[in-house]
Amino acid sequence: MTKDHGGDVRLSGISKTYGSFTAVHPLDLTVPEGSFFALLGASGCGKTTTLRMIAGLEEPSSGTVSLGEQDVTRLPPHKRPVNTVFQSYALFPHLDIFENVAFGLRRRGIRSVKKQVDEMLELVQLGEQARKKPHQLSGGQQQRVALARALINRPKVLLLDEPLGALDLKLRRQMQWELGRIQTEVGITFVHVTHDQEEAMTMADTVAVMNAGRVEQLGSPLDLYENPRTTFVANFLGTSNLIEAEVDSKSGGDIVLKAGDGKLVLPEARCSAPATAGGRVLVGVRPEKISLTHADDAGDVPVGRNRITGKITATSFTGVSTQYAVDSSVCPEFVVYVQNIDRDPRLVPGADAVLHWSPAHTFGLDAAQDIDAGVETVEEEAAV
Ligand SMILES: Nc1ncnc2c1ncn2[C@@H]1O[C@H](COP(=O)(O)OP(=O)(O)OP(=O)(O)O)[C@@H](O)[C@H]1O
Ligand SMILES: [Mg+2]
Repeated sequence: MTKDHGGDVRLSGISKTYGSFTAVHPLDLTVPEGSFFALLGASGCGKTTTLRMIAGLEEPSSGTVSLGEQDVTRLPPHKRPVNTVFQSYALFPHLDIFENVAFGLRRRGIRSVKKQVDEMLELVQLGEQARKKPHQLSGGQQQRVALARALINRPKVLLLDEPLGALDLKLRRQMQWELGRIQTEVGITFVHVTHDQEEAMTMADTVAVMNAGRVEQLGSPLDLYENPRTTFVANFLGTSNLIEAEVDSKSGGDIVLKAGDGKLVLPEARCSAPATAGGRVLVGVRPEKISLTHADDAGDVPVGRNRITGKITATSFTGVSTQYAVDSSVCPEFVVYVQNIDRDPRLVPGADAVLHWSPAHTFGLDAAQDIDAGVETVEEEAAV
């Protein structure tokens, strides 16, 4: 089969307004054929609306949707080579698993469905369950039936709207691997909507981080994590320590910053904001990049590291790592993750410590932004 790029999804200036409210601001986005693409963002940021515009279930207020070379903006949903899997997978309760999966083929008048259905059930590892009814399956199994039911139509693009939302955490994690495997096997373009950053990062080749109807940043999970360009992305994807600092000087590709009464070094290439002497920058570092040394051993900290002194206020043992909260003059709650290899028993609440990390692991952001953007949303999610 020749590749016709029919599975490329191209959104050009697509937007959606409801009265005076803009759910999705004009958006340009290309999802390459065969990729696993995730739209990630907090509740209400416009993920479902974007997906529904691709499916044809929602009419855009402006812009166009193309699949491959074809402009499908005016096509009704059933004429688009697209299928959608929703969080509520609504299987047909009176039909068994085999017939649920066969449904799309039968509707198209195809009589000999057995081979295709068997293959599909094999793909989602439900060959043994073919004659059961949906209520006799677990949530994860039902979700796989919904997936098989959509994939059997051989869509060019599969849209998934929080398909794992109804599953408990462990099953969710398992299904994330499964979905990844299935996508690789079938090679169909997947556009996956989720508010779970870990889910987006484990599965997708490319993640678009959405905030209030806009894509804030788009990239590979690694790129987004290591090089966030906004405070929202830095805080929403994992955890970041952000410090307000003043640009002191520049030398040899590095920016030297004043933070509290100390100095920090930031490679110029890792600063997404203009940095001029006297100006302000937000300095960021991820918790697992930081080492923690008891103040008594401060002399052992290698030169050339960024360092900050502080007092441990809390520790939390999570098995693989210990998480520390450290109060310092530049940041009231520095978060540090230390892998549990050789635990220093002196690092307890009340202890004075030196936090230190490589300048190469430091990133710089525009200080005009809200330093806490994206933080609350994560906490709200955790409380649910
Ligand atoms: N039919 C509608 N009329 C008015 N406003 C709407 C309509 N549909 C969606 N909205 C609003 O548009 C915004 C985006 O909604 P959308 O469903 O795309 O969010 P989402 O990112 O999918 O959120 P969630 O994670 O909660 O599913 C929300 O503020 C929502 O209230
Ligand atoms: Mg939604």
